Amino acid sequence: MEYSVKNTAISGQATPCIIVGVYETRRLSPSGQQLDKSSSGYLTAILKRGDIQGKLDQALLLHDVPGTACERVLLVGCGPEKELDDNNYRKILARAATTLDQRGIREGCCHLLELAVPGRDLHWKTRQAMEVFEHTLYHFNQLKSKPDKRAGRLRRLHFNVADTREQKVVRQAVKEGQAIAAGTRLARDLANLPGNICTPAYLAAQAKKLARQSECIKVKVLGEKEMARLNMGALLSVARGSRQDAKLIVIDYQGGRKQDRPYVLVGKGITFDSGGISIKPSAAMDEMKFDMCGAASTLGTLAAVAEMQLPLNIIGVIPSSENLPDGNASKPGDIVTSMSGQTIEVLNTDAEGRLVLCDALSYCERFRPRTIIDIATLTGACVIALGKHFSGLLGNDEALTEDLLAAGKCSGDTAWHLPLGKEYQQQLHSNFADMANVGGREAGTITAACFLSRFTEKYRWAHLDIAGTAWHSGHHKGATGRPVPLLTQYLLDRCKKH
Ligand code: BES
Ligand code: MN
Ligand code: ZN
Repeated sequence: MEYSVKNTAISGQATPCIIVGVYETRRLSPSGQQLDKSSSGYLTAILKRGDIQGKLDQALLLHDVPGTACERVLLVGCGPEKELDDNNYRKILARAATTLDQRGIREGCCHLLELAVPGRDLHWKTRQAMEVFEHTLYHFNQLKSKPDKRAGRLRRLHFNVADTREQKVVRQAVKEGQAIAAGTRLARDLANLPGNICTPAYLAAQAKKLARQSECIKVKVLGEKEMARLNMGALLSVARGSRQDAKLIVIDYQGGRKQDRPYVLVGKGITFDSGGISIKPSAAMDEMKFDMCGAASTLGTLAAVAEMQLPLNIIGVIPSSENLPDGNASKPGDIVTSMSGQTIEVLNTDAEGRLVLCDALSYCERFRPRTIIDIATLTGACVIALGKHFSGLLGNDEALTEDLLAAGKCSGDTAWHLPLGKEYQQQLHSNFADMANVGGREAGTITAACFLSRFTEKYRWAHLDIAGTAWHSGHHKGATGRPVPLLTQYLLDRCKKH
């Protein structure tokens, strides 16, 4: 989608569609009122007939409105003016985007930035508008033999704002929004690809592609031999059952000064998780191709920051493997030695995410990270606890968790803080090794984070469990691109505080 910023009198806008809001009950937004004036009360007359009350999720498309230069006017219900919060604002935008797209309207002029959302400025409203439009219009059809035949797709959106100061704000927001949209799209595309295409080697190739696109990015890929030299026994134990070579992908973005300590992102990259010898039930097992969504969001975030040229140093690390059963695969009860020297009894080969992450986290000590955030579709328990709306957030540093919660709220890509209490650590007790890789049925998301915390004591660390938020199941099955918006916002916020 293309975006532009305009300042034209509303009656003179020669566009396929003007988008304005109408509050419940039947009160037009300021631009709506202007349109009503130039059409000599045409809109109020229609509102009086009761075709639209202004409820959320309502929309009414009008053609050839008198006194205007546009082909259509789309009235979008905004709900009660007093209840217009972040969530309702997103709903209004989503209704506008779907209506335009379904009608095959290729271009629109959006007047929804004028709606007042308590506590939110023009910059935020622009970013959210783009986020919602991009989200709604995304389609994955790379692998269909016939291209999508749907008539016209929405191609271009103009934001109409009053003066030059506002135009400047919106232009800056559009730049950020474009970068975040591209990063989110990349994350979704990679995650939607099936396991037979998106393998560890494929992810490595994608990282190298990023390096070709940006001068600030360097990529290094370690194979199993190199990882063996680093004693990554935990990571390599997961790869034993796979015919694909596991990879440790290191993406180094240098946007800051040489001596600046980096922010590090570590994304779980299991390109297919069958559970291994502790094999999963077959229902919905296809969705385990999404077990690399942490990796996809790491790549997406790096693509976004590189496009924005943020003045920070950021390193993305992706431990990537398949988790499959095989004669050579890890067995329940096997004991492996991690890069840190700590030994792990693999009681369940399906708890593989923490095994690849722990060695990747130890590897990152060499970067002396300012903060380190791992992102992983780690536990089914997180889906039970938080559903699909909030990602789970745990960590060892209060300030970092606060920063991430704030970035989540601002971007609409929210997280919820869960306790990393010491009490839970004992659930990982093993009679035979330093720890077990599972902690029983209770508090599964917390014990998984407890496991990781044993490898991150040397730095400020946070863990995002995105098992519920990274993709949708059912009829709309597909990756969401989360938490690229949260992570990018976190990094944007770091630039201001420098
Ligand atoms: N990738 C899964 C977690 C998962 C499951 C995410 C379902 C989204 C939906 C992970 O590797 C896993 O299998 N975790 C196990 C851990 C258990 C064995 C302690 C789980 O959650 O069942
Ligand atoms: Mn698993
Ligand atoms: Zn997994």
